Amino acid sequence: MNEHGTNTTTCTPHVQAAAWGKGVLVLGATSAIARATALELARQGYAILLAARDMEENERIATDIRIRCGSPAVALPFEALDVESHPAFVQTCRDMLGGTLEGVVVCFGTLEPQDELQKDFTRARRVLDVNFTAAVSIIEAFALLFEQRHSGFIAVISSVAGDRGRQSNYHYGAAKAGLSAYLQGLRNRLFSAGVSVTTIKPGFVDTKMTFGLPGLMMVASAESAGKAVATAIRKRKDIAYVPWFWRYIMLIIIHIPERIFKRLRL
Ligand SMILES: NC(=O)c1ccc[n+]([C@@H]2O[C@H](COP(=O)([O-])OP(=O)(O)OC[C@H]3O[C@@H](n4cnc5c(N)ncnc54)[C@H](OP(=O)(O)O)[C@@H]3O)[C@@H](O)[C@H]2O)c1
Repeated sequence: MNEHGTNTTTCTPHVQAAAWGKGVLVLGATSAIARATALELARQGYAILLAARDMEENERIATDIRIRCGSPAVALPFEALDVESHPAFVQTCRDMLGGTLEGVVVCFGTLEPQDELQKDFTRARRVLDVNFTAAVSIIEAFALLFEQRHSGFIAVISSVAGDRGRQSNYHYGAAKAGLSAYLQGLRNRLFSAGVSVTTIKPGFVDTKMTFGLPGLMMVASAESAGKAVATAIRKRKDIAYVPWFWRYIMLIIIHIPERIFKRLRL
């Protein structure tokens, strides 16, 4: 059981998906960006498996998609930190969708105040584990499935925070940097199997993760971010900055010499 009281190892799917057309799994489905992405994918004709730890909210999102798009949408319980449950979770998805599971979109993540992470390694470790270790665990399981099948896509939300370490969020940034490097290697491995791996790097997006944070600029809506994620998936992009102009902002930021960068309060 997780903190939301959901059993993370079993589920009772109430829709048998054998009759579904193409399907996609969205992990961390209660994220604002995930929700917007799932809606876009449903509009493109995908049946949606929504996985999240808050099952009440997850069921609401599934109902909303079914009503708005008329596409099948099913909520599943998923706790990212419970990595032992990941193989059983993948098996559940296989049982439900079989060969119609075309892709996975990984949206879960966590951001905590940097000053508190510096004082409390247990919290810092959770940030590293959710954003990196747990993501690698579940992505690797689906990578093997798609590799054996010689088709599929994996899209993962990393962050521009992983492009350069900053004093305001370097534990989170380090986890996202690790995730981006991991995805780069995975893309290289899966290319010959015809499986695409898309790294999504959002700048600031208006979600509960950024609510009340100081110093935000050029904040995108979750809806526009979701559309951009769905487009990147459709185009099977390798790396997509969201919105696109963050590619150029980060190009400048990564080229600031370290002797200057270390003096900035970023
Ligand atoms: N917002 C931004 O400006 C921004 C910028 C760059 C990258 N990102 C990334 O975008 C992704 C989506 O974030 P968001 O902005 O949409 O924020 P959000 O609404 O806070 O979503 C975060 C999601 O992660 C889930 N999650 C956290 N810990 C989990 C765990 N242990 N197991 C399962 N799920 C867990 C949350 O579930 P609960 O609802 O149960 O808490 C929530 O669904 C994240 O990877 C984030 O790092 C966001």
